[in-house]
Amino acid sequence: MEHPVPFVDLQSLLRRQMGELREALDEVLQSGRFIGGPKVDELEQALADLVGVPHAVACASGTVAEHLLLMAAGIGPGDEVLVPDFTFAATVEAVLLVGATPVFVDIEAETFSMDLAAAQRAMSDKVKAVVPVSLFGHPAHLAAFEAWCENEGILMLEDACQSMGASEGGRRSGSFGNAAFTSFYPAKPLGGLGDGGMVFTRDGELAERVRRLRHHGETGHHLHGEMGTNARLNALQCAALLVRLRSFPQELQWRQEAAERYEAALGGHFVTPKVREGAASSWAQYTLRLPDAQQRDAFRDSLQQRGVPTVVHYPRPLHTQPGLQGRSYRLTPTPVSERVCGEVVSLPISADIQGSDQRRVIEAALEWAGSA
Ligand SMILES: Cc1ncc(COP(=O)(O)O)c(C=O)c1O
Repeated sequence: MEHPVPFVDLQSLLRRQMGELREALDEVLQSGRFIGGPKVDELEQALADLVGVPHAVACASGTVAEHLLLMAAGIGPGDEVLVPDFTFAATVEAVLLVGATPVFVDIEAETFSMDLAAAQRAMSDKVKAVVPVSLFGHPAHLAAFEAWCENEGILMLEDACQSMGASEGGRRSGSFGNAAFTSFYPAKPLGGLGDGGMVFTRDGELAERVRRLRHHGETGHHLHGEMGTNARLNALQCAALLVRLRSFPQELQWRQEAAERYEAALGGHFVTPKVREGAASSWAQYTLRLPDAQQRDAFRDSLQQRGVPTVVHYPRPLHTQPGLQGRSYRLTPTPVSERVCGEVVSLPISADIQGSDQRRVIEAALEWAGSA
């Protein structure tokens, strides 16, 4: 039996960068400076430049980055926040953590991102913010949401946790609206060696407030102008991410090439993911849609037998998660989210996916298509 294909090939990535990573971590060890310091500043500047905004604030994870952002924006009890019904659970957790009410909004099937018309129908005078999610690396309708939010006088906070490096109309994901947040979870397009996240914004005051809140609301030495939390990103993680950043443009290119190989081989046999005109995906996931859940199970079993793992991102609409029951939320009709949850299946993809592994995925998928 051949080795199983890794769903995300972190081992190949680590082999490629191990020397540089060790050197960078060693530099921090020698310095003894683990909290704050030059590596944190350097990473924030480098990512602000990459995204194209003046301010970036490093945080302990993508989830706390969103939490701090909502706190800093003054969103809380009595406020509503629009979120897609099809996304990772963290998107809504931060809304609940500040005591605001999430409003679940439908997505469009083609890009898996929030449907602007559905968001418009979900509006109320309590809505203070909208969180479009650039899911699987594909930018949400960022410019359209930006214009609409500006017009409505509500905040647009993009969930860019899966979309570092993606763009729309030449502008990077992370640079639209009032602010955005991303994640450095190891399997993300720009993954670190553990948890991490970042807030991006053009708004200097908002950035300053996030910066204060991540460090206990400190406004002077042992002076807490407001109560915050501890949500800092440590210097070892920042040093590792600065190394990861060196090869990031090349990795985006590799992901793009892997997605093109999938499209060329599978496009005629499956509903493959499409990239909107003028957009570029960072291909955090390569997600097919199969006609129904039964077929999907058969497809997944067939690939698994050939050593090819698949993942269902995501098996149920967010509003049906058990942890949400008994919580206060508002649901608008989400038939597309309901349907898509039964259809989606993600294939292995990562910057370092090996050619021989990808060929095995393609052969296994085509074999199933031939027999189905
Ligand atoms: C869409 C989305 N939002 C938020 C998060 C939360 O990021 P983190 O895992 O860094 O807390 C993730 C990643 O896991 C995500 O995929």
